[in-house]
Amino acid sequence: MIEQYIENKQMYINNLLMERLNQLNLPQGFKEAVLYSIEAGGKRLRPVLMLATYEAFQEKNDKVIEPALALEMIHTYSLIHDDLPAMDDDDFRRGKETLHRKFDEATAILVGDGLLTQAFHVVSTSSMLEAEEKIYIIQQLSQSAGLEGMITGQHLDLKAEDLQLTERELNDIHQLKTGAIIRSALKIGAYLGGANPPQIESLDEFGQYLGLVFQIQDDILDVEGDMAVIGKPVGSDEERNKSTYPQILGLEEAVKIKERYMDAAKTKYKESGIEQPILLDLLDIFGNRQS
Ligand code: IPE
Ligand code: IPE
Ligand code: MG
Ligand code: MG
Ligand code: MG
Repeated sequence: MIEQYIENKQMYINNLLMERLNQLNLPQGFKEAVLYSIEAGGKRLRPVLMLATYEAFQEKNDKVIEPALALEMIHTYSLIHDDLPAMDDDDFRRGKETLHRKFDEATAILVGDGLLTQAFHVVSTSSMLEAEEKIYIIQQLSQSAGLEGMITGQHLDLKAEDLQLTERELNDIHQLKTGAIIRSALKIGAYLGGANPPQIESLDEFGQYLGLVFQIQDDILDVEGDMAVIGKPVGSDEERNKSTYPQILGLEEAVKIKERYMDAAKTKYKESGIEQPILLDLLDIFGNRQS
């Protein structure tokens, strides 16, 4: 069952993340802050996606675990910074106080910086990966999380507060701030699994829709979610006049567009000829998630 599959992977990822970060030589109070952001949980959907993609091509998942950990570290950093007062100014994340509320802003900035940089250390020192594979992973991660990826997405997202964007403009922001990293999960998983270039290309196209679906559902949950379930405040986007699908098109239309993108993702996946059904199950879970 897909729920069981996800849960097993989440446990696997959580244990390894805690183990890796716990063994770092850090001052006690600072280590507590680093572990706080990881212990808080989170769905771990990006690493699950990378593992599942790899498993579409290979049985044993040894090679992909370190890149998956690195990706979750980068994602967690992006959330810590996204919540800062200078950005979205949110007080709750993953069901707990945000890091800057629990500790302080300087600590949150530093933990974020640290997780981002450490992610590249985890990949570059892996004993499972060939040098060429490390370069591919580092290139994908740094491109998707870097200036031409998530960072510009976040910049545009902040600039778009109080503006009335077109659907096209919003689509571009979502692709950058959320889609790019999700696509890198698929590409890295496929590449390490031994997929051929057309298969990687098809999965990348699937990932473009998946990334949009993921962020649209995030925007929908910001309107109609339950804080106890999503673990972060509801109504945060409206409070900051964010440009979101529900804001520019209304909730009903946002749901319709999300469903249209889910269908488009399924079509792309079927065209790819890749048989493993788990990625399609994950698409359904991503698109209909309540947390
Ligand atoms: C939240 O990501 C930020 C977005 C890019 C929408 P997730 O919904 O995956 O957050 P966690 O990792 O489960 O906390
Ligand atoms: C964040 O988007 C995307 C990131 C790159 C972190 P949001 O600002 O909508 O994410 P949440 O709703 O705070 O999780
Ligand atoms: Mg944001
Ligand atoms: Mg936010
Ligand atoms: Mg959001």
